[in-house]
Order: sequence, then C-alpha cells, then structure tokens
Amino acid sequence: MDSRSQWGTRAGFIMAAVGSAIGLGNIWRFPAVAYENGGGAFFIPYLFALLTAGIPILIMEFTMGHKYRGSSPLTFRKINKRAEFVGWWGVFVSFVISTYYSVIIAWAISYSYFSLKLSWGKDPNSFLGNDYLQNTVDPGAVGSFVPGVLVPLIIVWVIVLGILSKGVKKGIEAANRIFIPLLVFAFLLIVIRAVTLPGALDGLQAFFQPDFSQIMKPSVWVEAYGQIFFSMSIAFAIMITYSSYLPRKADITNNAFITGFGNSSFELLAGIGVFSVLGFMSAQQGIPIDEVVTDGVGLAFVVFPEIINQFPAFNQAFGFLFFFSLFLAGLTSLMSITETYVAAVSDKFNVSRKKAVLFGGGLSAVVSLIYATQGGLSFLDNVDYFINQFGVAVLGLVEVVLIAWVFRKLGEYKRHANAISDIQLGSWWTICLTTITPIVLGFQMVRLFQQNLGKTFDTDTGNYSGYSDMFIFYGGWLVAITVVIVAIIFSLMKWRSNQNDTFESTEGENN
Ligand code: ALA
Repeated sequence: MDSRSQWGTRAGFIMAAVGSAIGLGNIWRFPAVAYENGGGAFFIPYLFALLTAGIPILIMEFTMGHKYRGSSPLTFRKINKRAEFVGWWGVFVSFVISTYYSVIIAWAISYSYFSLKLSWGKDPNSFLGNDYLQNTVDPGAVGSFVPGVLVPLIIVWVIVLGILSKGVKKGIEAANRIFIPLLVFAFLLIVIRAVTLPGALDGLQAFFQPDFSQIMKPSVWVEAYGQIFFSMSIAFAIMITYSSYLPRKADITNNAFITGFGNSSFELLAGIGVFSVLGFMSAQQGIPIDEVVTDGVGLAFVVFPEIINQFPAFNQAFGFLFFFSLFLAGLTSLMSITETYVAAVSDKFNVSRKKAVLFGGGLSAVVSLIYATQGGLSFLDNVDYFINQFGVAVLGLVEVVLIAWVFRKLGEYKRHANAISDIQLGSWWTICLTTITPIVLGFQMVRLFQQNLGKTFDTDTGNYSGYSDMFIFYGGWLVAITVVIVAIIFSLMKWRSNQNDTFESTEGENN
C-alpha cells in the first residue's frame, strides 16, 4: 500500500512545478541580468545553461523524487545513508530562503494596496526607505518592528500555511490551478499595455541588442547558470519533493521540458514587459536606458512606482496588476519552498502534515519577523546573497557530482525515466551531468570563493554598500555555514518513521 500523498492530475503537477519556478527571480532578476550580460547575446549562454544544466538537473530531480518517493532527506538517504545530510542541506537552504522571500511577498501586498492611491507620492525611493520600511538604522542593527510590513507578512504566512495544511491535492494543486492562470492573465495584460507605451520599442531594442563581446567573458556564463538554478527551483530540494507526489505512471522527461520552457517563456515575457516600461521612462525623462536599468528591490519598489506615476492613464490599475502579479508569482514559489521542510519533517519524525506545517512553517514565520524590523532590508540583502551563492550554487555542484560520479546513478535513472516517459534520454543527458555541468559549476565555485573571501561586501556583490565585516560575517557567512552544520545534525537524528527501512528499488517496475 502506498500512502504517500499524490497529485490529482498531470496538469496539476505541471502547474505546481511551473508555479514554483516562476517567481520573483523571473520578474525582477532576469530582465536586468540579461541586459547587463550582453542583451540579445545573453540568450546564447542562457539557452546553453538551460539545456546543459537546467533541464538535465530537473529531469534528474524529477526522477529521484519519483523513484524514491520521499522528501529530499529521505531521497538521499535511500541513495546512501551517509548522503542524507545533502537532502537536509537543500531543505535548510529552502528554509532560509522562505524566511525572507515571504517578506518580499508581504511588500507586494502592501504595494498592491498603495497602487490604488499612488501612496508613494513623487519620491518613491524615499517613500520605500523612510515611510514604508522605516529603514533609518545602520546596517546590522535591528530597530523596532514595522507594523506596515508585519501585518501583510502575517497574512502571507496564514495563506501559505493554510494551503499547505490542506495537503498536496486539495491544497497545493488546487491553489496553483487558480493562481497560475490568474498570474499569466494579469501579466499578459501588463505586457500588452507595456509594449504599447511610447518609447517601448527603444526599451526593447536596448534589451535585445546583442553585444557579442560580452559572451566571451566567463562571468556572463556564470550569471546564466546562476539565473537558471534559482529560477528553475533546482538544487534546493523543491523539485525532488514535488515529484515525490507523482503517481507511479507519470511522464518525467516531458514534464521537465514543459516546466523548463514554461518558466523560460515567462522570463522572456517579463523581460519584454520590464524593458518596454523602462523604455517609456527613459523617453519621458530624456535619460538613456542604461541609467534607468536596475533589478531587485530597486526595480520593483522604486522604479516601477516612478513609472506608474508617469503613466498617461489607468496608472492605479497598472500598478495594482504589477504588484498583484508579483504577489501571485511569489506566493506559488513560497508554497513549494516551504513544502520542502514540511515534507522532510513529516517523513523523518513521523508527524502528521498539519503538525509539520505548524512547527516547520511556524518556525520559519517566526524567523521571518526579523525582516519586518527597521533593519530588515540589510539583513535580507545580505542573507539573500550568501544563501544563493553558497547555498543553491554549491549544493547544485555537490548534488550533481554525488549522483553522477560518487554513486554513479545516472544509468539507473535514465532507464527509470525512459521506461515511463515520452521523450527518451540519450547520451546528451549523461554528458551534461557528468561533464559539462560539473566543469562550469566547479569553475564558478573557484571564482566565487576568490571574489568573496577576505573582501568586503560592495556594490558588486550585494545591492547595498556600507556593510561592516562583522555584519557580513554574521549575516552572510555564518548563515550559509550554519545551514550545513544543522543539516548534518538533522541527518544524525533518529528516524521516527520506518519509511527509510522499507525502500525497495522501483527499477523496472513501470516497464
Ligand atoms: N524559482 C523561484 C523564483 O524564481 C524561487 O523566484
């Protein structure tokens, strides 16, 4: 008897996987990354990263989830007892990400509301820092709670934990079935309006203009890989967890292609939307595009409000649609990030889903409160940088090397996926995972450590300058290292369920 929860339909699974992939990374990160790394020419390294790492790793993670039918720690334990900590590592990376990701979604709720009255006034930059975030303390200082952030943050957690407690089919799947079509519809409206603005064509020209000299730089290729990892939700336990709820008869390879291309299409759409409005802004203010391009917090919560102020008509409606889309995209990703530790806790400690949601999700919600303080923004920026670079990227390399070289599982996984999938995996898949991806990620790691060790955090690395070495140590390095230590501790704890004992190879079962 198989008592593990299951997706109700194939479309439901795809919707959830696409919902996880499409997130803040697509809307506020991709457009600026593409522009700054060669514009139209960036599509070459981007597509290369998608086809050699993104989709192959996604297929690998889908196969692992489907084959071992476990959360990330359980999956790695079934591969090898000593590998369990790798599963927990991904889970705790997700845990840390969820603590601040939720806060950005909370800001999006506030800004959806502010859009209706254009509350940010004539100076959105000062409004964000002084009025909304009340960020008047030095980086590293906490200050007091900011009620304007705290209240929507509580709302975000109530929604996410409420959905997760309803289960895989009735909760996650049902929510994604509503949120994803709504997101695509809202975002299409934004893009249609954006491309018809005066100046939009100049913005698009700047975005797509290929600068081939850029793609000779190794850093551009590293950026492409980084974007693919975060954006596709790979190497942080998510896709292993989601695919563990697939029924025995499920397509793996085709689902991975649909998820990967769906995510990239949305990314392209976001690039078109963002650069159309940047073109509009540059035309309105008579300044070159490169002076208005930015990403992250600055793009969404400063530049967009400025642009919305200058809209010829319907500015409130456009503002609302934009922030509401950000909210939906973020929410569907946060559900998947949180589900990684809900599933892990319930697998290992043999507790019900509701209890796992309450304790795992509840703890994350409590930790997230630190970002709802006056000093929250600098904590968020610092932790985000370190956990992405030294969490997701390092973990991606470790995961691929373990599976491909240490445990030599690719042949077995290929047979498993091919037995149930439409698209058959060939040697391209093996070559990508054994050779291309480890070489590129290994190179990336060396470069990353060179860049960061002994250096202060400046505008090249995070978004904000002026952080002290102590703050970088406590807020950045320590968080990334603690995640690994806690992962090892959890892997050493006793299993309270017998799931890890009952594993029998499912190889060939679906033939
Ligand atoms: N994949 C999610 C994003 O792009 C986490 O934001």
